[in-house]
Amino acid sequence: MATRKIKNDVYAIGAIDWDRTLFDEIIPLPDGTSYNSYLVKGSEKTALLDTVDPDKVDELIGNLKEIGVKHIDYIVSHHAEQDHSGSIPKILELYPEAKVVTNKKCKDLEKNLLLIDDEKFITINNGETLSLGNKTLEFIFTPWVHWPETMSTYLREDKILFTCDFFGSHIASSDLFVSNNAKIVEDAKRYYAEIMMPFRPSIRSNLKKIENLDIDFIAPSHGQVYDHPDLIINAYKEWVSENVKNKVVIPYVSMHGSTEKIVNYLVDELMKRDISVRPFNLITADIGEIAMALVDAATIVVASPTVLTGLHPVAAYIISFVNAIRPKVKFASFIGSFGWAGKRSVEQFESLTSNLKAKLLEPILVKGYPKVDDFKSLDRLADEIFKEHQECKFIK
Ligand code: FEO
Repeated sequence: MATRKIKNDVYAIGAIDWDRTLFDEIIPLPDGTSYNSYLVKGSEKTALLDTVDPDKVDELIGNLKEIGVKHIDYIVSHHAEQDHSGSIPKILELYPEAKVVTNKKCKDLEKNLLLIDDEKFITINNGETLSLGNKTLEFIFTPWVHWPETMSTYLREDKILFTCDFFGSHIASSDLFVSNNAKIVEDAKRYYAEIMMPFRPSIRSNLKKIENLDIDFIAPSHGQVYDHPDLIINAYKEWVSENVKNKVVIPYVSMHGSTEKIVNYLVDELMKRDISVRPFNLITADIGEIAMALVDAATIVVASPTVLTGLHPVAAYIISFVNAIRPKVKFASFIGSFGWAGKRSVEQFESLTSNLKAKLLEPILVKGYPKVDDFKSLDRLADEIFKEHQECKFIK
């Protein structure tokens, strides 16, 4: 439990979750996470910006007591997901005078998710301001920086932009401000890949909304506070651009070695053509690492053996995951092995990748263990990837 000061009368009072290892029951958290809640004390009014995951509500309450908060006028809620909003009902019990300040969509979600009464809300519009006396909150709607209702708040006098999930990172750290640029960009990239990547076009327009603000600090609701905001803004600009790298990602699973053999052969052939390649054995891979690798890869090739006439279920799972996070890959292919029937794997691959705007390169299916002709086919695939990458105007 700790309260930390960002600027005069602006405090970080959230909770650090050192031990959490999984988010949304799917996303691995190798570095834990935090649920950042901020307190802004104006000369006339006091606002709490977001709360914490309900598991950590006692820490938030302890922090409010530690800095002597006896009255809260506003609870600004940027996002209805429960890791930020889930403690609002408890805070409303302790501070019954408080009103929840949010947009119409968020109000609707919170009424349903958290069973908060209608009269507890103050609904605001994009661009509206709220005076706390000597401090002014300006609300900027930033939809789809996770959910459709997500928004940010700009604290004008202190030049702090509170962004909730936007620019966040799953990292548990005792350091309030960014302490290692490379590390935070890596953590934020993982967060972006898993949470934000499906919404690249929306994020591009949201980045435009904030580009004319004079920002000294970006204070997200996960991870550390950026005291050099350009670091994360520039990283996001690159991630959401159409630019890709001369890189191939190969998630694969192999049961008896045939698929592994063709994967290893293709990896070698791509390397010979000076293409970066990253195979992931799906039995041991961290799906967060796969998502990160796909942030800027030009090509994905999924490899799977045939199980009961179709994809190995582990491969089907990862293809569904990749389809959900919608990486900007320009090319995709499928390679695999079969014993007596393999065609259905290719059909499944094609139907499960409907969200990808990628050109499908001719799949390769090997009967049994790969033979001379199969290696020639893999040579052709490596050549085709090389050629497509050479001609792709987005390759940087
Ligand atoms: Fe950190 Fe979308 O919640």
